Amino acid sequence: MQYDLKNKVALVTGGSRGLGRFICLALAEAGAVVAVNYAYSAEDAVRTVRLIQEAGGTAFAVQGDVTDEASVERIVREAEAVCGGTIDILVNNATGPQPELSIEDSTWQDYLDQLHFFVKAPLLLTKAVLPGMKAKKAGRIIQIGSEVVQIGNPNFASYVTAKSAQLGMTRSWANELGSFNITVNMINPGFIPVERHAGIDTSGYQQGVPLGRTGEPLDIGNAVVFLASDAGRFITGQSLSVNGGNTFGI
Ligand SMILES: NC(=O)c1ccc[n+]([C@@H]2O[C@H](COP(=O)([O-])OP(=O)(O)OC[C@H]3O[C@@H](n4cnc5c(N)ncnc54)[C@H](OP(=O)(O)O)[C@@H]3O)[C@@H](O)[C@H]2O)c1
Repeated sequence: MQYDLKNKVALVTGGSRGLGRFICLALAEAGAVVAVNYAYSAEDAVRTVRLIQEAGGTAFAVQGDVTDEASVERIVREAEAVCGGTIDILVNNATGPQPELSIEDSTWQDYLDQLHFFVKAPLLLTKAVLPGMKAKKAGRIIQIGSEVVQIGNPNFASYVTAKSAQLGMTRSWANELGSFNITVNMINPGFIPVERHAGIDTSGYQQGVPLGRTGEPLDIGNAVVFLASDAGRFITGQSLSVNGGNTFGI
């Protein structure tokens, strides 16, 4: 089956670099018009747009902070205006810094910082795209989670907690939105080195991965395209690990 996303509009939060860039590239390659959201790195967002255009696709950079209510409303309206239609595919991908902290060193604010990205932002964005999806009686909401929910990494509880909350949200929304033919799923990447991991030794991690390697950003882009496409139409409320089998026994 071809993964054909022609005539679909996708909004990818944090699409300027890291995994988000490759999610945008994969969606555009399948034919979607892509709104590449970013907060600060205009240059990176423009680069993502240019890569898509060079490959024959269509994309637009849309600036805005996904943790801010007024900003989210503007991101969605601007994305719809430049892309020429309401959002069919929302990918909640953006992340801020992810500090590793012991319980003693963590503050409530550290937890809130993560909840802002992985609970507040998906809520605000979903509320803003829902009218369009409900009117079309179709939609895809794809959350980028993490394998840490299965692993429970120590000294990382603020991040693990927020990603776990995002999974609960995914399941509840899948139930609530099923009758509107809107699917809601979570993709859980394993460790996939991106720009911010430059210089990190991945050999220890790779040893524990059944497929023997870290992931590549496009592995996540491909999974997003599958869930966004017609091939994924009967899949909702799921948590899909894309991590070379790293957590299959958990
Ligand atoms: N890479 C991995 O190994 C891995 C593993 C598991 C899960 N994940 C998950 O995958 C997702 C992407 O991670 P990544 O590694 O690709 O991160 P990344 O390289 O740090 O990229 C983060 C993206 O989010 C954007 N962003 C930051 N703050 C924002 C804000 N307030 N509003 C809108 N956009 C904002 C950034 O744009 P600016 O440059 O403009 O700030 C950037 O495009 C995250 O949800 C992460 O938790 C990643």
